[in-house]
Amino acid sequence: MPPISESAVLDALRPIIDPDFGKSIVDLGFIKNLAIDGAKVAFDIELTTPACPVKEEFQKAARERVLALDGVGEVDVTMTANTRGRAPQPEAEVLPGVKNTLAVASGKGGVGKSTVAINLALSLAKSGASVGVMDADVYGPSLPLLTGVHGRPRAEERRIYPHEAHGMKLMSMGFFIDDNSPVIWRGPMVHGLIRQFLSDVEWGELDYLIVDMPPGTGDAALTLTQMAPLSGAVIVTTANDLSLIDARKGLKMFEKVSVPVLGIIENMSYFTPPDLPDRKYHLFGQGGGERTAAELGVDFLGEVPIDPRIVEGGDKGRPITLDAPDAEASQVFAALAGKVARKLAMLAETKPQIADANITWVS
Ligand SMILES: Nc1ncnc2c1ncn2[C@@H]1O[C@H](COP(=O)(O)OP(=O)(O)O)[C@@H](O)[C@H]1O
Ligand SMILES: [Mg+2]
Repeated sequence: MPPISESAVLDALRPIIDPDFGKSIVDLGFIKNLAIDGAKVAFDIELTTPACPVKEEFQKAARERVLALDGVGEVDVTMTANTRGRAPQPEAEVLPGVKNTLAVASGKGGVGKSTVAINLALSLAKSGASVGVMDADVYGPSLPLLTGVHGRPRAEERRIYPHEAHGMKLMSMGFFIDDNSPVIWRGPMVHGLIRQFLSDVEWGELDYLIVDMPPGTGDAALTLTQMAPLSGAVIVTTANDLSLIDARKGLKMFEKVSVPVLGIIENMSYFTPPDLPDRKYHLFGQGGGERTAAELGVDFLGEVPIDPRIVEGGDKGRPITLDAPDAEASQVFAALAGKVARKLAMLAETKPQIADANITWVS
């Protein structure tokens, strides 16, 4: 039996196409560390994000295809990821080690922006990505309640160290105040605070920083979009959130700073009673998010069901993704995280890797 050649292995893998890039995983350079030892073939498939939803499919297809080659007795496929994103910028003042910064925004409060932000973040962290959550909703910080993490973060030599919990780095104005009463900030304070969260917090190296944005397009939101190197944004709505005007304002705000809106997520879309698992009751009407997306010309990313466990989990600091990973809502969050991660990877791959423009502080 002639020895197995590298090119035979690569040819066997070539028909596996990455659906986003529409290209072969071989031509995309995803195959690494190919090693052939007698009848044993081992290699890595390096994805553009650990949250890739077709990870298992790729692994299975690759294994089967190589195993079918003459003379191959054993195949060892390791799935790895090199998260695409902004190149490290050691000199940058703002988020120097963060590859992707995702803004989770909404036209108004109460639509589940924070819920979506934390569950997307947890889903990404579960997939193996390094993740931070920045609660920039300075008027209604909810990260302490949502995660059960409280208390002042450690500060040393003008650096603030985020809390670490549930496998993520967390920062919120809520860590600095004692109760949940609404906070009244004057404009300049908000400005300074957001600047500190971006440049004085030791985020370290992260694949994804999820930013729970202040609702709407007020001063705080505007400041953030101007200061943070946002890679993309998602807008959270509900089916009965009829304010297309607000959604449009949000879109405009991101367009102004050239931040792509990756799409709209409709939250609290439908309810499935536990004893009627096949039913979907659209309590607030159907298709609102999808219509809004169509009107704005952005993608509709998906519908998150209503689940009372989301409210309970929110109150005890255990988001549904942690406590009930098999719940439909958790699975929807995981799928949305995968979609968003792939969109960010595509953006990073197609966008020339230019260093961030010099950021001038507007004060
Ligand atoms: N899909 C959902 N199912 C059930 N309750 C939800 C869902 N999404 C959010 N909630 C609840 O709605 C309320 C508002 O959500 P929150 O994430 O705090 O909104 P926002 O950050 O937009 O103000 C919270 O009590 C939260 O637990
Ligand atoms: Mg909130």
